[in-house]
Amino acid sequence: MNNFMTLGQFIIEKQAEFPYAKGELSRLLRDIGIAAKIVNREVNKAGLMDILGSSGTTNIQGEHQQKLDVYANEQFIAALRSGGECCIVASEENDEIIRIESAVSGNAKYIVAIDPLDGSSNIDVNVPVGTIFSIFRRKSAEGPARLSDVLQRGTDQVAAGYIIYGSSTMLVYTTGCGVNGFTLDPSIGEFCLSHPGMKMPESGVIYSINEGNYIHFPLGVKQYIKYCQVEDAATKRPYTSRYIGSMVADLHRNLIKGGIFIYPNTAAAPNGKLRLLYECNPLAFVIEQAGGRATDGANRILDLEVNELHQRTPVFIGSALMVSEAEKFMAAAGENVFAQSVI
Ligand code: AHG
Ligand code: MN
Ligand code: MN
Repeated sequence: MNNFMTLGQFIIEKQAEFPYAKGELSRLLRDIGIAAKIVNREVNKAGLMDILGSSGTTNIQGEHQQKLDVYANEQFIAALRSGGECCIVASEENDEIIRIESAVSGNAKYIVAIDPLDGSSNIDVNVPVGTIFSIFRRKSAEGPARLSDVLQRGTDQVAAGYIIYGSSTMLVYTTGCGVNGFTLDPSIGEFCLSHPGMKMPESGVIYSINEGNYIHFPLGVKQYIKYCQVEDAATKRPYTSRYIGSMVADLHRNLIKGGIFIYPNTAAAPNGKLRLLYECNPLAFVIEQAGGRATDGANRILDLEVNELHQRTPVFIGSALMVSEAEKFMAAAGENVFAQSVI
């Protein structure tokens, strides 16, 4: 007999805390949980099936799509379509928004933005991958939901979370009342509450950044990296460098252990790489709810204006004190300053 509370039981128990129509958001979260289990099944048997490798296609951002990118995208969209609570899906893998116009969703009030498979370059080598989701209420009162319903600030999210397909599979989400984590028990096929009320340490000793791009980083980031590497007993430096290349996995580790994740802007990519709507905003919501901070180096991620579906932003996210420290280096170096010399 399992003593854990399942995701389904937890959602029903907690739905009194939801600010809006309660059953609908519960059903939406349940649908995401179901799709996550299906994707998990495929990720787990990836080496056994003809599902590894490139699909031979590229997405709007020119990135090569892996077969599992396409599969995960189809599964989440199918679950949201049949669930009937979602009127628009915005996905990393689709150029445009996907309207769900079936009869059952005639009154659907929710918008879902999703990165169906995060870290897809890691699939072929058995390294954790993830899914990131963000949920909004539609703003327009009538007529078909439209793009402007999707382009909402991070502060407007009603729920957000991620799934990590790792050594165990976990679903972590927030509805704005803290963060709770559920581990998939494969023997019963249920996500079970394993990490209630997740809190991020205020500080830590891990910094996560693709240091191979060092030469291209803004001066403030270069100087912060040097700061991380200096010996100082009081602040437990030098810090440890850990970078998986799956943002979900890097953040999940840092959420539990304490740490900072940075994907900065560079001269060649002035807005960084990661996408605001379906990567940075949902993860910022989770991290803030766990007590951490998320900024673009100067401004709170959740306050940023969203003008485009696939908009990118630099991101500094993690333990509150570490993000504040990194921001000090950015401010001191001056925004948009790119050092051409190696320091
Ligand atoms: P995705 O697989 O959804 O395109 O996201 C990959 C992202 C993110 O997960 C990761 O942190 C980052 O790209 C890694 O980028 P670099 O290889 O440039 O470090
Ligand atoms: Mn991603
Ligand atoms: Mn992706």
